[in-house]
Amino acid sequence: MTVLVPTMGALHKGHQGLIKRARSMSKEVVVSIFINPLQFENSDDLEKYPRSPERDIQLATLAGATEVWMPDYEEIYPGEIKKLNAGPLGKIFEGASRPEHFDGVVTVVNRLFEIVKPSAAVFGEKDFQQLAIIKAMKSSVEIVGVPTVREFDGLALSSRNIRLSEQGRVSANVIHRALAGAHLAPSVVIAQEIINSTLATEPAFKLDYAAIIDEHSFELANDQTRHKRAIIAGWIDGVRLIDNMKMGA
Ligand code: PAJ
Repeated sequence: MTVLVPTMGALHKGHQGLIKRARSMSKEVVVSIFINPLQFENSDDLEKYPRSPERDIQLATLAGATEVWMPDYEEIYPGEIKKLNAGPLGKIFEGASRPEHFDGVVTVVNRLFEIVKPSAAVFGEKDFQQLAIIKAMKSSVEIVGVPTVREFDGLALSSRNIRLSEQGRVSANVIHRALAGAHLAPSVVIAQEIINSTLATEPAFKLDYAAIIDEHSFELANDQTRHKRAIIAGWIDGVRLIDNMKMGA
């Protein structure tokens, strides 16, 4: 059975964690590397997206990939593109700030599944809303989620982190400080206050959203919600950063 790990390259230890998990499930692990233009809302972000194909092959292979597949545009999108819709979950939080983004993600993931025909595919909890949307796609592929890999100071590893200035990189751990500070709060209201006040200590952080949601519906959580997660997004140095953490013990 083949397990697929879809990526856009610029691989790091977070991606390697997914590949290791895939390898623990199967002897056949395909890592795809394709920078999907459909999921970028501005061409600047697409152009600046880091590219490191040789290093990627090394890192993927070291983590246990048995095939590193780098399709070109024509292979993924021959002819007219049949764009899929990510549904209502695609329109809120990340989707509110990036209107076409999740439609682009489900369209490419569907094509990758059609071509590779994996039994299972592995995704990171780092992109929690993406993981939820992919789980909701009607597909026979088993979707496996893997916890977020972090830097020493808690910052979630991301291909975009290298675009932060030295000072911005230091400031960026405010997101994890906010999440970790709130995670054992006695109520949703207090957790939200801890998040807001922690984020406000860092003027370099420009907030997009910080919310505590029901993990399944993405509706705002209350103290009766069983599975709660805090989700945060914003910008430092113009670089978009997102993170999330389960709330409660
Ligand atoms: P990309 O950003 O390259 O991420 C590929 C996979 O790695 C995603 O499932 C993402 O959640 C996971 N990932 C990224 N950083 C992580 C970290 N610090 N810890 C654990 N997992 C992490 O997400 C995409 O690409 C694209 O949208 C894609 C699904 C490939 C579709 O184009």
